[in-house]
Amino acid sequence: MTILVTGGAGYIGSHAVRALQQGGFAVVVLDNLVYGHASIAETLAVPLVQGQVGDRALLDQLLSGEHPACAGEPVQAVLHFAAYAYVGESMSDPARYYRNNLGDSLVLLEALVAEGRRRGGDPLPLVFSSTCATYGIPAQDQIPIREDCPQRPINPYGRSKWMVEQLLGDFGAAYGLPSVIFRYFNAAGADPAGDLGEDHDPETHLIPLTLDAITGRRDHLKIFGNDYPTPDGTCIRDYIHVIDLAEAHLLGLRKLLAEGGQHVYNLGTGHGASVQDVISAAQAVTSRGLQTYVAERRAGDPPMLVATAEKAQRELSWRPRYGELRMILEHAWVWHQRRFGQP
Ligand code: UFG
Repeated sequence: MTILVTGGAGYIGSHAVRALQQGGFAVVVLDNLVYGHASIAETLAVPLVQGQVGDRALLDQLLSGEHPACAGEPVQAVLHFAAYAYVGESMSDPARYYRNNLGDSLVLLEALVAEGRRRGGDPLPLVFSSTCATYGIPAQDQIPIREDCPQRPINPYGRSKWMVEQLLGDFGAAYGLPSVIFRYFNAAGADPAGDLGEDHDPETHLIPLTLDAITGRRDHLKIFGNDYPTPDGTCIRDYIHVIDLAEAHLLGLRKLLAEGGQHVYNLGTGHGASVQDVISAAQAVTSRGLQTYVAERRAGDPPMLVATAEKAQRELSWRPRYGELRMILEHAWVWHQRRFGQP
């Protein structure tokens, strides 16, 4: 069975491609390679089509199996990771985010409906990458965050994802489009095999920046605020191992293929770690120190985002394997040394 993975050359998408392959699926990746890496095609031995999700003619070719990358096999479902995900950039250039994340997703949804009709059936199912950023800054009494927590995104990135969630609701009601929405908390870590991991340019995420400061690729790490209402004053996040995220996609896809419907799940560990906790774990794992200094708060950072992922555990029998921060850091460290060297 062939699955189309948009954004499969990116961080989370590439780990999901491997999970699909290990689960017995054939995979075709569609990625515009703006932030993704072409080398993943070789690492994963997967056909990679460079293109835009908003290119309807290309989508039709891929979904129907007419595209050479599909080897004659029509696509049975889509995992949709492709998106821009820099919160700050989304504030300075919202049009880019709405065009890419929202506009292109609309084209994809319409193509799924059309391809289903062409086959005389329902739209093809979709697994959609959403984010905890759709919750904005949740009230204290809403933490840990459940799926029914009010969604009030505070930046265009979060709003673009939230809007696609709304589209999926409407397309489900009107056309019967089956979907699973996953709201990721902080994706982190790397495949323990050491050949896949986080490689953003520019890098904005805490764990790779901490490892950069440890290896000397950067002089220091800025801690964005230590006066938050948290025990050590730094922001708390729910860091979820990317392998556990990938595994959830396999389970969500199987559920959709078996029973259809519309589903939404948080993916997190239920445990929060502060910026200071991450720094301490990185020091313990690497047995090295780093230079830090406290900087201004970063605009739009909520003090605390922690999920309850009980729904995914209950309905998908999802059991995160790497729930401990230390394991996330260990795998990130192996990847980081392999990718960037260890001065
Ligand atoms: N942080 C620092 N210094 C840095 C980088 C980050 O102190 O150099 C802090 C941030 O302020 C935050 C925490 O580390 O408190 C985590 O920051 P990341 O940038 O790694 O992750 P975010 O929580 O900001 O972002 C994640 C996802 C986004 C999503 C967002 C929702 O990566 O896609 O959660 O809030 F939009």
